[in-house]
Amino acid sequence: ISLKPYNTFGIDVKARFFVEIFTENDLVELRNHPVFKANKLLVLGGGSNVLFTEDYAGLVLKVSIPDIIAEVTDSQVFVTAGAGVIWNDLVNYCVENGFAGMENLSLIPGTVGASPVQNIGAYGVELKDVFESCEAFELSTGELKNFEYDDCHFAYRDSVFKNELKGQYIITRVNFRLFTRIRINSQYGAIQSLLAERRITHPTITDISKIVAEIRVSKLPDPSTIGNAGSFFKNPIIERSKFEGLKHDFPAMISYPVGQDKVKLAAGWLIEQCGFKGITEGHTGTWKNQALVLVNHGGATGKEVYSFSEKIIDTVCSKFDVKLEREVNIL
Ligand code: EPU
Repeated sequence: ISLKPYNTFGIDVKARFFVEIFTENDLVELRNHPVFKANKLLVLGGGSNVLFTEDYAGLVLKVSIPDIIAEVTDSQVFVTAGAGVIWNDLVNYCVENGFAGMENLSLIPGTVGASPVQNIGAYGVELKDVFESCEAFELSTGELKNFEYDDCHFAYRDSVFKNELKGQYIITRVNFRLFTRIRINSQYGAIQSLLAERRITHPTITDISKIVAEIRVSKLPDPSTIGNAGSFFKNPIIERSKFEGLKHDFPAMISYPVGQDKVKLAAGWLIEQCGFKGITEGHTGTWKNQALVLVNHGGATGKEVYSFSEKIIDTVCSKFDVKLEREVNIL
């Protein structure tokens, strides 16, 4: 089966086996199946954070557990969503029902099940800010296990599911804690300017959700027309001492403090400074409004995108002595 419809980069590779599951019980059955036992496993959500560089010689599992359930108390709301729910459908559901906390995460591609794995984030909010707990299927035992906030070791685009527990669990449901009283997070510069421009002094969560969606649409390519996986690299975090030197040589360098001793740089800026913004190379390239996003202009192979990303890493490294790390999973 071709995986082209299952990855937002639109890379045309094949999987030896493919299965879609809809319930936890499907996972129990799958675990007893000879194909499961004999093959390596790849769990796919929305396929919005992977780059396939070759056919997958194993079993690809698409998790499509549905349903959203909400339980409202006086000031809080507990929302449980199946791993297969489309992330943005969940955000819309919460915004429409007046459940605050997720509106800054509007329009992020992918599924609920993938959201804790890399602690998705945008416009001043991260998944961890609304995460309560999640349920996951333990592949070695076939049992469901609960993970509380502290078990997940969330960090910038990172969690225990990408590290110590990598490949050991399949997230089946995620529980979120949201608020019925509005608590807006509008610290992000572009949100503030749009609010000011529109003279919105008391924004609702619907206002924020709309503004975030507008910003995303203006900066990021729509994966349904131009293959991409969002930010291809992470924003690098470096020592403050090193940053001082760089800032001296490149006074316009964009940075954000991380604690006392570290600084996060804008990878998109670094890449743009190397002359890579909006360029096309073969079937791939970078997006015209956001150099951090690599795109498939049609017919690109994963290898082609990958070697283009190598070139970007090398060029940024020779100019700034900063090593970019990929955010997208390479397979
Ligand atoms: N910039 C440039 N040139 C570029 C791109 C960006 O100079 O080509 C500058 C911008 O002007 C801005 C700064 O870099 O001053 C940061 O850019 P932006 O606000 O667009 O955000 P980002 O740091 O590039 C991160 C996330 C995005 C998220 C946005 C908004 C990562 C790796 N990416 O991008 O997440 O939407 O912030 O919060 O942290 C994703 O993970 O796939 C993703 C899209």
